[in-house]
Amino acid sequence: MNGQGGGVLPDLRFSGTLANNEWLNIVRGGSLKAYGTVGFSNELSPEDAEAIRAYVIFRGIQSQAESSNPKKP
Ligand code: HEM
Repeated sequence: MNGQGGGVLPDLRFSGTLANNEWLNIVRGGSLKAYGTVGFSNELSPEDAEAIRAYVIFRGIQSQAESSNPKKP
């Protein structure tokens, strides 16, 4: 796993839900259960969900830096 989406599932690096409490509502509250993401409140504490959110934001920043500063071949 590298934190990138494949195609069928959304690429969370660029998800607007990272910017607000929607992330918690989805990941722990299960607000998108009907669409595939069940709530992980039994498995993830609020701190865990925040840690994952921070990681995905970090991956997004990393990817942006890579694409605006491509490595020379
Ligand atoms: C078992 C695996 C999973 C499946 C099959 C799945 C499926 C999906 C699907 C189909 C959507 C799009 C829903 C829509 O059309 O609005 C979605 C959205 C989302 N999923 Fe998952 N999901 C899974 C696991 C996870 C996990 C582990 C997380 C986070 C820890 C997560 C976080 C999210 C978020 C934040 C969105 C909203 C994205 C956006 O609208 O910007 N999902 N998921």
